[in-house]
Amino acid sequence: MSIDALFCHCRPGFEPELAAELAERAALLGHAGYPKASRGSGHVEFISDEAAQLARRLPFADLVFARQKLLRLADLRGLDPKDRITPILAALEANVPVRDGPPFGELWVEHPDSDEARPLSGLARSFGNALRPALRKAGWLSPRDDARRSRLHVVFLSGDHAVLGRSHPGDSAPWPQGIPRLRMHADAPSRSALKLEEALMTLLDDGEREARLRDGLRGADLGAAPGGWTWVMLRHGLHMIAIDNGPMRTHLFDTGRLEHLRVDGFRWQPDSPLDWMVCDMVEQPRRVATRMADWLREGWCAQTVFNLKLPMKKRWDETRQCLDLFQAQAGRPLVLRARQLYHDREEITVYARPA
Ligand SMILES: C[S@@+](CC[C@H](N)C(=O)[O-])C[C@H]1O[C@@H](n2cnc3c(N)ncnc32)[C@H](O)[C@@H]1O
Repeated sequence: MSIDALFCHCRPGFEPELAAELAERAALLGHAGYPKASRGSGHVEFISDEAAQLARRLPFADLVFARQKLLRLADLRGLDPKDRITPILAALEANVPVRDGPPFGELWVEHPDSDEARPLSGLARSFGNALRPALRKAGWLSPRDDARRSRLHVVFLSGDHAVLGRSHPGDSAPWPQGIPRLRMHADAPSRSALKLEEALMTLLDDGEREARLRDGLRGADLGAAPGGWTWVMLRHGLHMIAIDNGPMRTHLFDTGRLEHLRVDGFRWQPDSPLDWMVCDMVEQPRRVATRMADWLREGWCAQTVFNLKLPMKKRWDETRQCLDLFQAQAGRPLVLRARQLYHDREEITVYARPA
């Protein structure tokens, strides 16, 4: 049975936030539909007769709580463990038009990042190995992996239930399950370093990273101790001012490019404009958003990455209100990208600069 829907991976526990985000955004775009989510499942579906159109008008890059966005091609239930391939080929036949050449360049067999679905990883791996040659033989998949073409996703929700989906390389996360596998570096002062690394990897494109993270640029890190984020910026060649009453890891000073000020991150401002300000202070999100807006409005930094720690309830409402407040108080048009990263827990990460 084929139903038109979007299928998104998310952090387990944040299904209500993603469901609320999809519902609100679809409504604002004038698309009818409704979300289907169950808490802890690590995914949300948005059922809509206009899912394909909605998918085009709702770019992955604009979604805060989605780790990955797929267009659902089929919802396959009651799969026979002895032959799961035949129904997949039949569903493709029924739902995917073939024009010139194989429609898909890659196959990703996945499962949601939930406690319940994690044991399916072995099945996903072995089934991928069996399905891939069958798809190639039937002309659905290019003879060799081709990252420019659409991807075919098979997402196992249980051993006999899989969702078939499609994603486009320019409008989706480039990692299975939307999870970047980053390794903690032995020199990194804290695991938080992974958050900023992931933010720079996901919220900036290749060109922006090359142009905007260069030797000799200057930045500040508000709420810097013990120094994970500062360490990331130092590795990109920046000169950094770390603002925190807490101590910074001493090896960071060996670079000769770090100054540490034990002052209040909500009051301090630089003597002259900086290229970057990053901020990981644990505080009320509205207070952080307001202060971040001061920085952009006053031109104290050319761009910023900051975290907003979310409350326990109504986290989508709080997210939207904080981002609206930030934009309004910055007093100028912004490039604004926000996402709950894989390495974020009860928080989201924002990148912003004047447009
Ligand atoms: C989550 S930790 C930061 C971790 C850091 N980003 C890293 O990668 O190692 C939050 C830090 O914010 C600091 N902080 C909280 N409120 C602050 C304020 N008003 N001014 C300066 N630092 C503050 C705390 O002292 C704490 O070290």
